[in-house]
Amino acid sequence: MGLERFTAEDPIFVDEDVLRDSHRPEGLIERDQELTEYQSSLKPVIKGARPRNIFLYGQTGVGKSVATQMVMDRLREDQQQYDYLDVEVVDIVCKNLSSSYQVVVKLVNQFRDFEDKIPTTGYPPDTVYEFLWEHLREVEATHVLFVLDEVDAIGNDDDILYQLPRSNDNGNVPPEETKVGVIGISNNFTFRDNLSARVKDSLCDEEIHFPPYDANQLRNILYQRAEKAFVDGVLEEDVVPLCAAMAGQESGSARQALKLLFKAGDLARSRDMTEVTEDLVREAEPLVKGGQVENELESLPTQSHLTLYAILKLHERDELPAKSSDVYQVYQQGAEFINADVKTDRTIRDRLSQLKLKGFLEVEEHNEGPKGGSYYLYEFGDIRPEMIREVLEDSMRLEELF
Ligand SMILES: Nc1ncnc2c1ncn2[C@@H]1O[C@H](COP(=O)(O)OP(=O)(O)OP(=O)(O)O)[C@@H](O)[C@H]1O
Ligand SMILES: [Mg+2]
Repeated sequence: MGLERFTAEDPIFVDEDVLRDSHRPEGLIERDQELTEYQSSLKPVIKGARPRNIFLYGQTGVGKSVATQMVMDRLREDQQQYDYLDVEVVDIVCKNLSSSYQVVVKLVNQFRDFEDKIPTTGYPPDTVYEFLWEHLREVEATHVLFVLDEVDAIGNDDDILYQLPRSNDNGNVPPEETKVGVIGISNNFTFRDNLSARVKDSLCDEEIHFPPYDANQLRNILYQRAEKAFVDGVLEEDVVPLCAAMAGQESGSARQALKLLFKAGDLARSRDMTEVTEDLVREAEPLVKGGQVENELESLPTQSHLTLYAILKLHERDELPAKSSDVYQVYQQGAEFINADVKTDRTIRDRLSQLKLKGFLEVEEHNEGPKGGSYYLYEFGDIRPEMIREVLEDSMRLEELF
């Protein structure tokens, strides 16, 4: 048939964008309890008092980011009726920021116009912190709330999570002028467990947990979106429940459920079918899963990529499973080669345990008897090394290593 014509006709979707991650749903459903908790943690702000710092955590795709956006919008709106309030929200996504320094630079730049932005390297750390305090002392707002989404990217370099929540107490920002609050968001449970004691103390005034969704909740979330996304009547009756059941069992992630539903619809469309069937959902599942792992790999920060690179090299030399000290050696050569920061071996061990948590690596504990002590051996988890190689080769930062 050769090249077909593009046509806008679409028997399946009215608006497929509604199923995308970036689409803002009309309301958050199935999260009433968490929203109540979230809003009551912010109650002091609306009364003009000092904010409580909040640490929000839960697995991927459970509504942390979307809930936060909605709560912040509501806060911005509702504060307008109080003359004594002027709340400013500064929100950033920390993905790809692998240190506190980089986070501070990004925050400083949120306050600056394009021509005054500072570069991500070059200034001493004290100076960039001082820039940030200066901006905070200068703002007119009564409150500045910082939202640090995906904050686990900074690993154990978490100084900012101590400094920022403490900035009113340690004299950097006078609270009678501007009160500072921090909301940190993370889907990484290792990160949460490994927060240093002083960070826990300052950031975690309130901890809010978003649990995974069960199949019933996912069903309702999907119905809300499906209604707008699909042409009336094209979904076989059990399609939404099946997507919900599969995602509920696997991850409890609304994102995964939405992807599955979209993919099933997409398959129907590409085959000129007029109905989305259950069989298509079953066919879509492995496709969505494969893509998901790849996306997750791609979106890891550079330091994690370098750690994976080290494991990949060891794999190619047939030296897996390997001790973390061996991984570290190869990591160090790689990092130096591309002029990346060379982190300490403790940081790399931390990365290794994060990668294990995400299922990319497996760890085995070895005991050398009473005198030898014990150590861990790392190797790839249930994932094809070729896939890791492809992702790393495609990464701009690591390109030169291949
Ligand atoms: N309760 C809900 N009602 C409607 N849509 C939801 C709900 N929870 C999540 N979603 C949708 O699911 C997708 C994932 O949600 P979100 O991005 O908030 O997850 P997250 O918890 O921030 O995940 P991650 O940790 O990966 O950043 C988004 O498209 C969001 O709109
Ligand atoms: Mg998020």
